Amino acid sequence: MTTTPSPEPHRSTTTVGIVGAGPAGLMLSHLLARDGVDNVVVDNRSYAEIEQTVRAGILEAGSVRLLVDSGVSDRVLREGDEHAGIEIGFDGRLARIDFADLVGSSVWLYPQTDVFIDLAAARSRDGGDVRFGVTDTSVDDLTSDRPVLRFTDADGVPHELRCDLLVGTDGSRSICRRAIPETQRQQSFREYPFAWFGILCEAPASAPELVYSHSDRGFALISQRTETLQRMYFQCRPDTDVENWSDDRIWAELQSRVNVNGLELREGPITSRTVLRFRSSVCEPMRYGRLLLAGDAAHTVPPTGAKGLNLALADVGVLAPAIRAFLATGTERELDDYSVRALQRVWKAQHFSSWMTSMLHLPPDASVFDLRRQQAEIRSIIDSRAGSTYLAEGYTGWPA
Ligand code: DHB
Repeated sequence: MTTTPSPEPHRSTTTVGIVGAGPAGLMLSHLLARDGVDNVVVDNRSYAEIEQTVRAGILEAGSVRLLVDSGVSDRVLREGDEHAGIEIGFDGRLARIDFADLVGSSVWLYPQTDVFIDLAAARSRDGGDVRFGVTDTSVDDLTSDRPVLRFTDADGVPHELRCDLLVGTDGSRSICRRAIPETQRQQSFREYPFAWFGILCEAPASAPELVYSHSDRGFALISQRTETLQRMYFQCRPDTDVENWSDDRIWAELQSRVNVNGLELREGPITSRTVLRFRSSVCEPMRYGRLLLAGDAAHTVPPTGAKGLNLALADVGVLAPAIRAFLATGTERELDDYSVRALQRVWKAQHFSSWMTSMLHLPPDASVFDLRRQQAEIRSIIDSRAGSTYLAEGYTGWPA
C-alpha cells in the first residue's frame, strides 16, 4: 500500500492572525492595518456565503461612528436610515420611546450584510490579506510567544502561519474558544424556551420605525430593509418547522400579534423564512495566553436588544488599542485589561438583552398573572421618563 505524503505546509509569519472574516474580524484587521500592524484574516466560508446570510439590522451610534471615523466607509450615512426612536406595541396600543429626546442619541437601520460588504471592500482597497474559503483551520501553541494558525487555502495549499498574537472572531461555534482548555475558562449559558421565526417580504414599510410588539399570543418585531423589502420576526417554539408555515398562516400570526391602534401591517409575498434559535452565553476571560476572543466567539445574546453586532464592534474597538499597547511595551497586562474592559460592556448587554427578551416574550406556560405582570412592567417603563430613559440608554448603547 502506498500513502501520499502530506505536502509540507507553506510557512510564513505575521503579527496578528485573525480567525473569522465577519464584521469583528474585518474591523479588527482594518484598525490594526491603519496602525501599521501586519495581519492575516482567514474564514472557512466564502465571500458569497457570508454576504448572502441574512443577519440583524440595527447599528448603535457608536458603531456608525467607528465605521465612518476609522475610514471604512460613510455609506451607512448615505444609505442607512437613522431612527430616533422605537415603538412598543402592547395592550392594543403603541407607545414611542424617543431616543433623541431622552438621551440625545439614535440608532441606524443598516443590515449587517452591508457592514460586511463595506469592511471587505475597505480591506481589499487597502491591500489587506483576507483569505476566504479556507479549510482545516486550527490554532496551537497558545501559551507560547509564537502561537500558530494552520489552515489549507482555497487552492488546497496547507499553511502554517506563526504570529505574535491570535484573535478568534469566528462566531458562536468558535474553534478558537474550544482550543482554550475548559479548566481555563468560565462558560455561562442561558437557554430560552422560544425562538424567532424571521421573514423577508416584498411589501412597503408598515411603520417609519421598528415596532416591538408584546401580545397575548407572544412577541413580534416589525423591522425594515428597503422601501420594498421588509424584515419581520415572531416568537415561535424552537422546534418550529418553516415548511409548515404558508404565507397566509404567517400573516395571520403576525396580524394577531401587532393588533394595535395606529398600525396597519402591510402584507406581501414572503421571500425568505428561517427559525433563529437563541441563547445567552459568555466565555470568561476573553483571553488565554496569546489568544484573544472577540464578538460571538466570546459571547452571544438573544436578538431582542439588537446588541450582537454592536458588541462585536465594541470589542474590537477596545482590542485594537490593547494590541497596539502590547506590541509597543510587551506588557501582557494590556491583554488582560482588554478582557476586563470588554466584559463590562458584554455583561451590561447580556442584562439588557435578557431583560428586553423576558419583558416582551410570553413563556410557553404563561398564566394570566404572567401576562398582566408583563403589561404592567411595560407600562412602568413607558409611563415613566426614568424608565424610558433606561431603555433608550441601553438600546442606543452605553458610552465606550
Ligand atoms: C432587527 C433584528 C433585531 O434583532 C432587532 O432587535 C431589531 C432589528 C433586524 O433584523 O432588522
